[in-house]
Amino acid sequence: MTKATILGTGSYCPKNIVTNFDLEKIIDTNDEWIQSRTGIAQRNISNGENTSDLAYEAALKALEKSKISAEELDLIILATITPDQYMPSTACLLQKRLNAKNATAFDLSAACSGLVFGIDVASQFIQTGRYKHVLVIGAEVMSKAVNWEDRNTCVLFGDGAGAVVLGPSTNGRGIKSVYTGSDGDIENYLALPARPVNNLLVENNEPQGHLTMDGQEIFKFAVRIMRKGIQKVVKDAGKQLEDVAYIVPHQANDRIIGLVANKMKISPDKFYMNLKNIGNTSSASIGLALDELMDSGKLEHGQDIVLMGFGGGLTWGAIYIEY
Ligand code: ACO
Repeated sequence: MTKATILGTGSYCPKNIVTNFDLEKIIDTNDEWIQSRTGIAQRNISNGENTSDLAYEAALKALEKSKISAEELDLIILATITPDQYMPSTACLLQKRLNAKNATAFDLSAACSGLVFGIDVASQFIQTGRYKHVLVIGAEVMSKAVNWEDRNTCVLFGDGAGAVVLGPSTNGRGIKSVYTGSDGDIENYLALPARPVNNLLVENNEPQGHLTMDGQEIFKFAVRIMRKGIQKVVKDAGKQLEDVAYIVPHQANDRIIGLVANKMKISPDKFYMNLKNIGNTSSASIGLALDELMDSGKLEHGQDIVLMGFGGGLTWGAIYIEY
């Protein structure tokens, strides 16, 4: 069976940087608290660009690096929990701007696991031969989803987009194993409400809500599922942890990664992190980190990586890739 592989990556963040010191001026927080609890020093915040704008910039870079034209795309999957609008999908808005006229386009909602879920879906189409070139993007304007008066959550998130172009492998390398899962029983640990039902039968004056989170429960879930996900894809790929050059995790929190590294007896350096300067960008975070890793020259063809996402739903997904 044809394996799917990464042909190129791209990323983009709004230019406007908001530091922890900037946040100190608008809410009751401080740089020491944020850095020591999360590892985040600053994040990029949109001054008007919407999710499709960020996705467009990241997509252009990914297409350029993969040497694929927009017309060659068969499918666009855009993972987001902060779409421009309910309809048309942000993927369709992107398809129009890219002039990717041969691509089917749809959005995917899996919160911070969105990019991993998207890559998994894309790889199925490539393996069966149905599609050849698939653009998968995680893009978020989290700044429009958080409550800027809630210091428990607003300090954590940033805006950005990360993109991956996938295609058929020509050398047998590529995606070796995938593990995904969901647990809707604990949906209230992390939530972002949509419009309440308000119609001719129901009078409902509730405003549309903001993102809410049970930080300590998410922390425990993340540590548990990261260990399980990484171990499972490594085993299913017939590999050892030592074979993995880099693990690119969802960038939620330095302390989560530190604990996972400690429990799994892996050097923290094996986890590629850019959280400090980017914050938590939900579905965009793995794509943003992966693109930075690719550009850094630290990862070479012939090395193996693991992508590990976890987030609201709850959802999780890990992918082992021979790059
Ligand atoms: N600045 C200053 N003080 C704050 C802030 C802030 N931004 N936020 C909360 N506090 C205060 C609280 O009000 C509380 O004060 P109190 O004791 O007087 O009531 C105190 O700090 C401790 O609050 P806790 O919620 O117990 O803080 P905790 O140590 O659990 O840290 C954190 C919170 C960082 C969110 C932690 O739970 C965590 O790391 N959770 C992991 C979840 C995560 O990273 N989520 C990211 C999004 S989810 C995802 O991407 C999948």
